[in-house]
Amino acid sequence: MMGNLYGHAVIALCIFVSNSDAYRAGIPGNASYDYVVIGGGTAGLAIASRLSASASVAVIEAGGIYEQDTGNQSVVPYYSLIFPFLGTSEDHPKEPLIDWDLVSIPQASSGNRRIHYAQGKTLGGCSAINTLAYHRGTKGSYQHWADLVGDQSYSFERLLRFFKLTCTLTPPDPRKRNAPNATVLYDPSVFDNSLNGPLQVSWANWVDPASSWLARALQAVGQSLSPTGFSSGKMNGGGWVSTAIDPKDATRSSSEASYLQKSGAGVTVYLHSQASKILFDKDKKATGVAVSTQDKNYVITSKKEVILSAGVFHSPQLLMLSGIGPAATLAAHSIHLLSNLTGVGQNLWDQIFVNVLGGLDVPTTGTYLSTPSQRALALEQYLTNASGPYSSAGGYLSFEKLPPTHRATLSPRTRSLLSHFPADWPEIEYIVSGFPSGLDAPSPPTIGAIAATLLTPSSRGSVTISSSSILNPPVIDLGWLTDPADGDVLVAAVRRIREAFNSSVLTPLIAGAEIAPGDAVTSDMDILAWVRQNAQPIWHASSTCRMGRVGDLDAVVDSRTRVFGVERLRVVDNSVVPFSLPGHPQASVYMLAEKIAEDVLRGW
Ligand SMILES: Cc1cc2nc3c(=O)[nH]c(=O)nc-3n(C[C@H](O)[C@H](O)[C@H](O)COP(=O)(O)OP(=O)(O)OC[C@H]3O[C@@H](n4cnc5c(N)ncnc54)[C@H](O)[C@@H]3O)c2cc1C
Ligand SMILES: *[C@@H]1O[C@H](CO)[C@@H](O)[C@H](O)[C@H]1NC(C)=O
Ligand SMILES: *[C@@H]1O[C@H](CO)[C@@H](O)[C@H](O)[C@H]1NC(C)=O
Ligand SMILES: *[C@@H]1O[C@H](CO)[C@@H](O)[C@H](O)[C@H]1NC(C)=O
Ligand SMILES: *[C@@H]1O[C@H](CO)[C@@H](O)[C@H](O)[C@H]1NC(C)=O
Ligand SMILES: *[C@@H]1O[C@H](CO)[C@@H](O)[C@H](O)[C@H]1NC(C)=O
Ligand SMILES: *[C@@H]1O[C@H](CO)[C@@H](O)[C@H](O)[C@H]1NC(C)=O
Repeated sequence: MMGNLYGHAVIALCIFVSNSDAYRAGIPGNASYDYVVIGGGTAGLAIASRLSASASVAVIEAGGIYEQDTGNQSVVPYYSLIFPFLGTSEDHPKEPLIDWDLVSIPQASSGNRRIHYAQGKTLGGCSAINTLAYHRGTKGSYQHWADLVGDQSYSFERLLRFFKLTCTLTPPDPRKRNAPNATVLYDPSVFDNSLNGPLQVSWANWVDPASSWLARALQAVGQSLSPTGFSSGKMNGGGWVSTAIDPKDATRSSSEASYLQKSGAGVTVYLHSQASKILFDKDKKATGVAVSTQDKNYVITSKKEVILSAGVFHSPQLLMLSGIGPAATLAAHSIHLLSNLTGVGQNLWDQIFVNVLGGLDVPTTGTYLSTPSQRALALEQYLTNASGPYSSAGGYLSFEKLPPTHRATLSPRTRSLLSHFPADWPEIEYIVSGFPSGLDAPSPPTIGAIAATLLTPSSRGSVTISSSSILNPPVIDLGWLTDPADGDVLVAAVRRIREAFNSSVLTPLIAGAEIAPGDAVTSDMDILAWVRQNAQPIWHASSTCRMGRVGDLDAVVDSRTRVFGVERLRVVDNSVVPFSLPGHPQASVYMLAEKIAEDVLRGW
């Protein structure tokens, strides 16, 4: 009896106690707020926290609290590199407490594989499971955004104010980093700590030795160390990337640990609660959200606006379930049409990567954690000094447009497609890493990896629905490698990585033949076949509710992210960014949340 009546209240009380007075727990049942935010993820918690300074705000989140549900797994930076649930095959190990377990339809141009595409289902969303890299896109990429949507407030110069609002930067600590050879270069002028931005951005207090050598190899083939790092609108050359880690205790700075905990006192959070539909009045004004918590169904009413922040796959799904999307799709599922927006769920951009592997005779981070005594030492370093192997997620990144010798192999069509990208937009991101080969095969000691990520994908995927119910997951076609240009560029990138592995810097450390693709894979055709079988997601999918100009029939939202054809509804997450910005998106997602929060509060 007690349990039935007060079960929710007891859960709510636990949440309240464990987070002191940071935010309130919503008790499932009808209620009303100024703003209702669907999705307590990266963008959702950032915009909710900002709006709560002057309005009442509810957040509806399908997941729970990752720190409680999966212990230190999402908290300790190192673990983000080895999460078993990030496996991309259909039979990956499951982690239903923080992952949606989405699986794509078979990818016809990528070995017919169905790809498990991890997405955070917890407070913090993907910021609670990502690999923590923090950096911004290029000036040219934001200018392209501004021009495409006809709004010059998206130029880098004008966005910089919002980037600065999001975060507080802590410079690298050379005493704690174990490698004086892993120099960090960055531009402090593009940060402003006087604004007390909630997100913590810092450099890891540990450098992976294998990565430090692979970084040298990339430098040796012409990708020199960038003097500015990657947050001042330039992405050219290499650098040790800044990360969303709170340096005080080397813990993950997710949107939950940052925005919600630090400035979300006015936010009411409904956990384990799924939005099933956005509700409208007869004038197509959004009035609230239908929500279910376990089997309890209720309505959270919005006095001002509904903000949809359910991420790149679930935001288009919810729009369609609510009557906004391609008329034919809605008709097929007997959903009443409110706004015929053919672009909903289309234009999915996804960067993909492949890993070239070679044996290295140098230790890697995992080497320092391979025995119980090493783990005990590392734990002491972590707990007393917020340093050592556990304190770091990675890594060294390097960006370039393919150099002339490698471009020469591309088809004229591929070169023409690449020429449409801005001059400062890199085509490939190289990511270095290493892992121990394991006790059963101790030689070579380390498997070194240089990944090539395609930053200029020409293939497009899509998201649609299979029924009118939220209980069926969105149908995802990633579209990988459907445009031949993408395979063309990745084959050239594999050759480029082979050049780096072959540089004299690594000669003394190379142990054995190439592991993947392997020495037998040499022709363009064979490398392409290997790319199709081995391409992986870097989880940067975007643009399924693309922003565009008024009158652009394929656009879903305007430049203030208001959904076309209805009122009082915005989408704020990585689905509205009109294309995948080069590199890692989270810095731009937080920026967008700050920018739109200002629009909302001004009544724009
Ligand atoms: C494994 C991984 C590694 C990554 N590494 C990096 C990196 O190193 N650096 C970087 O910059 N980016 C990285 N990214 C990408 C980046 O984290 C995401 O692009 C970004 O966080 C997306 O933010 P979002 O607000 O669009 O969506 P999300 O953060 O995914 O938020 C969506 C939220 O909505 C909730 N939700 C969905 N549907 C419903 C519903 N019906 N009702 C209620 N709630 C719902 C979800 O549970 C989730 O909390 C990575 C992503 C992943 C998955
Ligand atoms: C909750 O709101 C809905 C829609 O406004 C209404 O139909 C329902 O009766 C309400 N439930 C309660 C318990 O008040
Ligand atoms: C994480 O938690 C596990 C289980 O409680 C513990 O054994 C391990 O030492 C913790 N790791 C760190 C780095 O705190
Ligand atoms: C950098 O220094 C670390 C720590 O001394 C060492 O393990 C690593 O091999 C060095 N890397 C290079 C490229 O010199
Ligand atoms: C929806 O829009 C598309 C493209 O603009 C158009 O072809 C189609 O006829 C429209 N359908 C309805 C029902 O309005
Ligand atoms: C912590 O750091 C100090 C100074 O940098 C060092 O002397 C000490 O050995 C470190 N302790 C651990 C456990 O790593
Ligand atoms: C490796 O380097 C050697 C000499 O520097 C060169 O002869 C050879 O062609 C290179 N191999 C590759 C795959 O780049």
